[in-house]
Amino acid sequence: MLILLNTMEIARTVVELRSLLDKRRAAEQTIGFVPTMGALHQGHVSLMEQAVRENSCAVVSIFVNPTQFNDPNDLKKYPRTPEKDLALVERAGVSVVFMPEVKEMYPTPDSRQFDFGMLDKVMEGVHRPGHFNGVAQVVSRLFDMVMPNRAYFGQKDFQQLAIIRQMVKMLCYPIEIIGCTIVREADGLAMSSRNMLLEPGRRQSAPLIAKTLAEARNKATQLSVKQLIDWVVSSINSDANLEVEYFEVVNAETLAPIEGWNDAPEKAGCIAVWAGSVRLIDNIMF
Ligand code: PAJ
Repeated sequence: MLILLNTMEIARTVVELRSLLDKRRAAEQTIGFVPTMGALHQGHVSLMEQAVRENSCAVVSIFVNPTQFNDPNDLKKYPRTPEKDLALVERAGVSVVFMPEVKEMYPTPDSRQFDFGMLDKVMEGVHRPGHFNGVAQVVSRLFDMVMPNRAYFGQKDFQQLAIIRQMVKMLCYPIEIIGCTIVREADGLAMSSRNMLLEPGRRQSAPLIAKTLAEARNKATQLSVKQLIDWVVSSINSDANLEVEYFEVVNAETLAPIEGWNDAPEKAGCIAVWAGSVRLIDNIMF
């Protein structure tokens, strides 16, 4: 009997990564790439499993990117669980893991400024200035290093996905971007590396976000956009453990806020909520 074992390879430098992937490319393997910041959960695992299914070589990067954190305290407390991460990545069937140090990713500071037009002037872009510029810096560097055929991103970070699609167009990358559905806990809370930082009481309240968004979809036919926004914000704020930072209904393609339900063919309701010092995001399609 022939048993095929997946031997996962770990690269810590760009030189190591390139030499591993050059061999794979020479063997005509297709490369599916999942960029992450670690503290992995089943949401990440679903992306990795899809990359494994659709490509002969799946690559995952684990790198907490300092340039996308607008709050130094958020960067400091961002969870890091490297051993557990490696076990999850290996079990998912990933071929190559890239785990660089900061000086490997940024040997010199990255001063590039991306112009995403409207896409980063709303929602997360307003509340986390510079965040998407940092995301674009790191993802473009990772794309240059990995040179994947396909790259996988979660719809959980709805605005990030739109920004990445735009960046791929702007920089003419020959990479297919694949958006993957949101993976949730049994109680509906969207999985996130930050969930493990929630205090127990706030964790109990957090599923109200997804529950309210699901109800909002049912109510959308009866209420105006403004009435629906007010209803979502007051429903969630009625729980003292939660405080809505924003809830916006936007054109799913341009991310421009809409005023009437007929203003766009595809609409998304995007929310950010503070649960104590932890910031949670989620979204729903209308
Ligand atoms: P991170 O938050 O680690 O997420 C890595 C990928 O997993 C992203 O594409 C994100 O949308 C996806 N993801 C997270 N939670 C998910 C869930 N519950 N269901 C489905 N997918 C989920 O996003 C980043 O890292 C960084 O900004 C990065 C793109 C790696 C650049 O540093």
